[in-house]
Amino acid sequence: MSRRTSMGGVVGGLLLVLGAGAWWGATAEDQTTDPALERTRRQVRMLDDLYKTAVVLITDKYVHTESDFSAGSAANALFAAMRKKGWHDVRLLDASGQPFLEKNLPRDEFEKAATKALVGGETYYEQVVKGDNGTRELRAATPVPVVSEKCTICHDNYKDVPAGQAIGLLSYRLKVE
Ligand code: HEC
Repeated sequence: MSRRTSMGGVVGGLLLVLGAGAWWGATAEDQTTDPALERTRRQVRMLDDLYKTAVVLITDKYVHTESDFSAGSAANALFAAMRKKGWHDVRLLDASGQPFLEKNLPRDEFEKAATKALVGGETYYEQVVKGDNGTRELRAATPVPVVSEKCTICHDNYKDVPAGQAIGLLSYRLKVE
């Protein structure tokens, strides 16, 4: 299901709620009072604060020139370690259309829909999907704006972006436990 703020979002969200309800034999009401799902959303909010704080901190304290090891590369190394240990899956994606690396372009339908919603000004986008063995997974995305002038040392194309505009996103996939 989807949690969004604009009218378009509400309609889209409703469609997704209906879709999710059909999958799980639950109504939209059940989903919003689903404690396991709420805990998973809370985990996403915690991880989002953690990862974004780390990226800003690394950029601020350690990145001075284009040849320095970027916070984006550090984040990807961190994400790979978390994925390997089976905790969760996160990707740092491009929403500007001009990625540093092509592999960071949105890939599947969720990532494309999330990019569209976040570039359109939404602050959060989610879907509940089927995982392995009848489990549920929460896919969630949050926007990444240009938070520092330093970002443009390597991402030239961020120079003309209006303040607050999403140029990227973090795309999460967590088991609902
Ligand atoms: C030192 C150069 C450098 C700086 C400064 C930098 N980045 Fe990056 N950024 C990179 C590199 C390299 C990648 C690709 C990392 C990877 O996928 O391994 C990347 C990837 C990204 C991505 C994923 C999409 C893409 O373009 O591939 C986003 C979003 C992003 N950076 C945002 C930011 C933001 C926001 C800042 C400022 C806080 C920033 N970057 C500062 C080098 C930099």
